Amino acid sequence: MASRANANDMDPTGEALDFAEKRARVYLREAGRRKVYPSDAALRALARFREAFPDLPSKALDVLRMLDELGSPATVLTTGGRYFGFVIGGSLPASLAASRLVSTWDQNAAFRVMSPVAAEIEEVVLGWMCSAFGLNEDCEGGLVTDATAANFTALAAARQALLARNGWDVAADGMFGAPPIEVVVGEEVHASVLKALNLAGFGQKRVTVVPADEQGRMRADRLPKIKKNSLVCIQAGNVNTGCFDPANEVCRWAHENDAWVHVDGAFGLWAAATPNYRHLVSGFELADSWATDAHKWVNVNYDCGVVLARDAQALRKAMTISAEYLKPGALREPANQTPDASRRARGVELWAALKSLGKQGLAELIERTCAHAKRFAEGLRAAGYPVLNDVVINQVLVSFGSTEATLEVIRRVQEDGTCWCGGTVWQGKTAMRISVSCWATNDEDVQRSLAAILRIARNVRS
Ligand SMILES: Cc1ncc(COP(=O)(O)O)c(C=O)c1O
Repeated sequence: MASRANANDMDPTGEALDFAEKRARVYLREAGRRKVYPSDAALRALARFREAFPDLPSKALDVLRMLDELGSPATVLTTGGRYFGFVIGGSLPASLAASRLVSTWDQNAAFRVMSPVAAEIEEVVLGWMCSAFGLNEDCEGGLVTDATAANFTALAAARQALLARNGWDVAADGMFGAPPIEVVVGEEVHASVLKALNLAGFGQKRVTVVPADEQGRMRADRLPKIKKNSLVCIQAGNVNTGCFDPANEVCRWAHENDAWVHVDGAFGLWAAATPNYRHLVSGFELADSWATDAHKWVNVNYDCGVVLARDAQALRKAMTISAEYLKPGALREPANQTPDASRRARGVELWAALKSLGKQGLAELIERTCAHAKRFAEGLRAAGYPVLNDVVINQVLVSFGSTEATLEVIRRVQEDGTCWCGGTVWQGKTAMRISVSCWATNDEDVQRSLAAILRIARNVRS
């Protein structure tokens, strides 16, 4: 065995890499033809992965062959343009190609000295996002796995700042015995914010809940009296309806009470990128911290969450790691902005996506997906099925009558495989959710999917 192996020694002719490249192209080419959800046979075949940890090495090419043979058919085709579940984007070509290069680089993006290129690019894209969201460019931020982690990071910064105002250093002294902080959320707060509140030691039950209207927006006429230095969590883009909290009113009221306002804008914040939808995010720029995702509406490949905060010092104080061997330089260090230290250089794919789109392409992506969502809503309404939300961005909720009928339509749509939509319960009513988030979705995808949904719904008794 070679005394010092590297990837070339293990795969001297690069055949595993070539194979992966070739099969990736076939995967993309076939994406339009395959059923969106894997077949039962493909799912059953996954059992073949369940072998004991092998004693002997395998050739890289053989490993890749097995991965492709068993893995590729068992993937959910989220990149193909007819996946409308959850809020899931695809991968833009530039982002996908950049991911190929960046995984070859294998950079640890924790500290600038480990990867100057990752640190530089990360800083650039954070600035671009501040400008897209209409924020001060001196807001600080970082890249994390997802919006849940971004929410957590922002809440940890809020906790740092709010307790410091009461003379308490939470980084040093923890939460036991700390002065209590009142936390306010809307009735339709996303579960990830509750999880983040839990992780940050606020407790997800210790919250004051502001009632929501029929679209899920916080009711500005029901804002409660709150204590000074509270934490107020608002939402840009409800996961079901796509609606936006009234940020102008909430931020004014919150800041009169010296509160920290945090925005969960996992996908909705990106509506700021187009003049036609920008009015929906009016007021969110007044907040103190923001969480969003680039792997949803912006179609950066997984995973890519973003946290931004106005109080750079609070964020850094909450997140800084120090050790003799980790002496930061004078410049911004990624690991001092987020909970993780070692991380992949996810800013590279984000940069590639935003650079390839430009402001114009980003605006077109947002507008195109919103237009597709409207087309779904019109087609469903025209066929007599009630759409339960005002389709303000890319989310549609539709009922097919009784709970049983709606669940049966969802089940059959998923089984049919032309497209994939999930279910939800919206204010007591079972609904099918359609989220148009993939850059690849085109008019034909919408027509085919709508036709399949209507064909199935007609055969289910409401
Ligand atoms: C409003 C909102 N917040 C947070 C999240 C959580 O996102 P992630 O799964 O990237 O953590 C979602 C997911 O859809 C969401 O819609």
